[in-house]
Amino acid sequence: MLIDNHGRVTNYLRLSVTDSCNLRCQYCMPEEGVSFAKRSELLSWDELFTLAKVFVGMGVNKIRITGGEPFVRKGLMSFLEKLAYLPGLDDISITTNATLIGPHIQALKKLHISSINVSLDSLDRQRVHAITRRDSFDTVIANVHQLVDHGFDVKLNCVVMAGINIDDIIPFVHFANQNPINVRFLEEMPFNGQSIGGKVLEWDHVRILALIKSHFPRIEKLPTSQSSTSVNYKVPGGMGSFGVIPSFSRTFCGTCNRIRVSAKGHLQTCLYAAETVDLKPMVRGILDPEGLESSIYAAIQSRYKDGFEAEKRLTNIQSMTLIGG
Ligand code: GTP
Ligand code: 5AD
Ligand code: SF4
Repeated sequence: MLIDNHGRVTNYLRLSVTDSCNLRCQYCMPEEGVSFAKRSELLSWDELFTLAKVFVGMGVNKIRITGGEPFVRKGLMSFLEKLAYLPGLDDISITTNATLIGPHIQALKKLHISSINVSLDSLDRQRVHAITRRDSFDTVIANVHQLVDHGFDVKLNCVVMAGINIDDIIPFVHFANQNPINVRFLEEMPFNGQSIGGKVLEWDHVRILALIKSHFPRIEKLPTSQSSTSVNYKVPGGMGSFGVIPSFSRTFCGTCNRIRVSAKGHLQTCLYAAETVDLKPMVRGILDPEGLESSIYAAIQSRYKDGFEAEKRLTNIQSMTLIGG
């Protein structure tokens, strides 16, 4: 078992397989001028698999595949096929914008990949177009329904943005009542590749929940696993549930079980921290591969207590497409 310097079990790797994306969500990246990594800078699929094996050998039993958008990278399904048979890995899940997942749904089911988190910030087609800067709604919603019909555990991630999609919060709760889906409302974080220019967070988890309670006074809190980022609720009688993720307020850092590797092979021990070690030279054998485990171990032994401590040392505003959420 991997225990960090604050006594937290670290068993969950968020592995970004690409920094590229076919959407341009406003809260994630600017519309133009994004320079994605060159192919040679990205870890190859074999290198990603080597890393996954090392982490699993060290005590990781859950891997969430993130991006950018994982399905833009050719070869993802073959990689998942290998990962699915990695002994000791109990849970593989994916976070996706669900624009490209359609043709792979059957194959994902066969691999026993059961949990898919989908980014969707509005139930209004035009608003989704404005937020993602692409006309993506029809495809995404059709794929969400397909995933549900195939029995996947589907969570929708809705980033709550003042002046943009507040009107969607209540329709999303209705959507969760009518479908076996968990809709999560995410506090917006400053990872848009530009800046939030000192903006204060207008819609934090307390305000989001208060709005929902004013429409649904009888909501019930659901039990959640210790390391969950979302606090979940249910409207009595509803088919699904909803949750609020205090991603900016960072109330869950005390039980954080996560570590991240970017598509370029950088280890990041907190979402709000700068990258720590570049694992690529070791995975590529340019530096002694024997050093991999000890470098990972050392990073886990020097994690920040929480996202606030980490943020103090962060000098540049990153884009979520590089970090993978
Ligand atoms: P599961 O618990 O595996 O379902 O993962 P998740 O819900 O955390 O994963 P997902 O990729 O859907 O991420 C949803 C959002 O959770 C991210 O966009 C962030 O807003 C937030 N989040 C995830 N991990 C962290 C973290 O370590 N710190 C903070 N502050 N927010 C996080
Ligand atoms: N703030 C909050 N969530 C974000 N995501 C991307 N950028 C941000 C941001 N600035 C979310 C996406 C995706 C998840 C991995 O991260 O909606 O669902
Ligand atoms: Fe793409 Fe996700 Fe970033 Fe949107 S949030 S641009 S879907 S990587």
